[in-house]
Amino acid sequence: MVQITSTPATTPRPSAPPRGRVSKFLIPEVIFGIGTLAEVGGAIRRVGGRRPMVVSDPGVLAAGWVERAVPHLDDVRVQHHLWHDLTSNPKEVEVQSAFEAYLESGCDALLAIGGGSCIDVAKAVAILSGNGGRILDYEGIDRATRPIPPMVMVPSTGGSGSDVSQFCVITDTARRLKVTIGGRALVPDISVTDPELLTTMSGELTAHTGLDALSHAIESSVSQACDFLSKGHALAAIEGIVEYLPVCVQDPYDLTAREGMARASLQAGVAFTNALLGATHAIAHQIGGALDLPHGLLNAILLPHVMRFNAETHAERYVGVAQALGVDTAGLDPGVAAEGAVGRVEDLGRALGIPAGLHEIGVDPADFDQFAHNALRDAYIATNPRPVSEDDVRRICLAAY
Ligand SMILES: [Fe+2]
Repeated sequence: MVQITSTPATTPRPSAPPRGRVSKFLIPEVIFGIGTLAEVGGAIRRVGGRRPMVVSDPGVLAAGWVERAVPHLDDVRVQHHLWHDLTSNPKEVEVQSAFEAYLESGCDALLAIGGGSCIDVAKAVAILSGNGGRILDYEGIDRATRPIPPMVMVPSTGGSGSDVSQFCVITDTARRLKVTIGGRALVPDISVTDPELLTTMSGELTAHTGLDALSHAIESSVSQACDFLSKGHALAAIEGIVEYLPVCVQDPYDLTAREGMARASLQAGVAFTNALLGATHAIAHQIGGALDLPHGLLNAILLPHVMRFNAETHAERYVGVAQALGVDTAGLDPGVAAEGAVGRVEDLGRALGIPAGLHEIGVDPADFDQFAHNALRDAYIATNPRPVSEDDVRRICLAAY
C-alpha cells in the first residue's frame, strides 16, 4: 500500500520573485505619414472637439500650413478660432493672452500647428482651462490635477517632441529662466506628423531643431530613467538623425529625408517623454530663459561637453550611442567609444554650422553662477547619469564657452 504523505510544514516554500524595476510607457495616439495633415478634422472630432483653438505662429502661417489645414476642419463642420501671437521660447504673458482668447472664443479643444513653442502654449492653455490660476503655479510634475480639454498636435519642426511628450516648457520672464511643467495629463490625445510640413523650415531652423532631437535621443538613452521601452526608440532616433539631418539641411525639399527626420524626431520624443533628459537640457533651459536664445542651438553647443563630463564616470552608457552614431566600437574600451561618440556629435554640429562655443552667441561667463544655481533646480537634472553639482555646471559651461 502506498502511503501518501503531505509535505512537511518545514519544507521551504519558493520565495516570491524579487520585485524588479517597473517600466511605464506613455504615448498619445500617433498618426504619421505624408499627407496626414488631412486627418486633423477627424482627429479633433474623435477627441470630442467642436470648436478648437488653433495655436500657431507667424512663420507657420506664412508657410501656408494653417491655410492647408482649415478645409479639413471645415469638412467635418469643426469651427476653429486661430491664435498665433507668440514668440520662440514662449513666455508666461503669452500663455495668459492665449488663455484669455480661448475663454473669449468659447473653445473646447486645442489644435497646435507648429513647432515646440506652439505645442507648449497649447498645453499651457489646456492646463489653465482645466485648473485655473497662473501657468507658473504648475512648475514641476503632476501639479495640474483636474481634467483638461482634448489636445491634437501637428508638429512642423523635426525636433521638439512636444507633440508626444508629457512636458511643456514656459519662460518665466521675471526670474529669466525656463520652467518645466510635466504630468501624464499633458500627453496629447493625438499627434499628427505630416513630414511635408518640415519642408518649409530654413536650413538653420532644421539644424537647430534636428540637433535638439539628437539631444533628446542621446540624453534619454543614457538617463537614469531609461528602460528597454525607451532605449530602442532613442537609439533608432540617433541613427535616423545621422542619416537624414545633413540631407534635410542641404536639400529642404527632399521628402524622403524629411520623412526620415520626422520619424527620428518622433522616436526621440517618445524616448524622452518616458526616460526624461539630463544636464544638457537642464543647463540650456537656464541660458535660453535668460538670453532668449534658440533652444536647439544651445543644446547643440552643450551636448558634447555634457557627454564628456558624464563619460568620465559612466562611459559604458555611451557605447550604444557611439554605435548608433556610426562608431565601430568592436574591441574599444568604453571610454574610447564614448570619446568617439563625442567626436561624431562635434563633427555633425560643425558640418551643420553650429558655432564652436557659447562665446560666439553672446553668453557672458559672469552669468555662469546663476546658470549653475538654477540648473540644479531644473526637472531634468535628476535623471542625468552622473550627479551634478553647481561647480560641475560651471565647469561644463566653461568647457562649452
Ligand atoms: Fe529639447
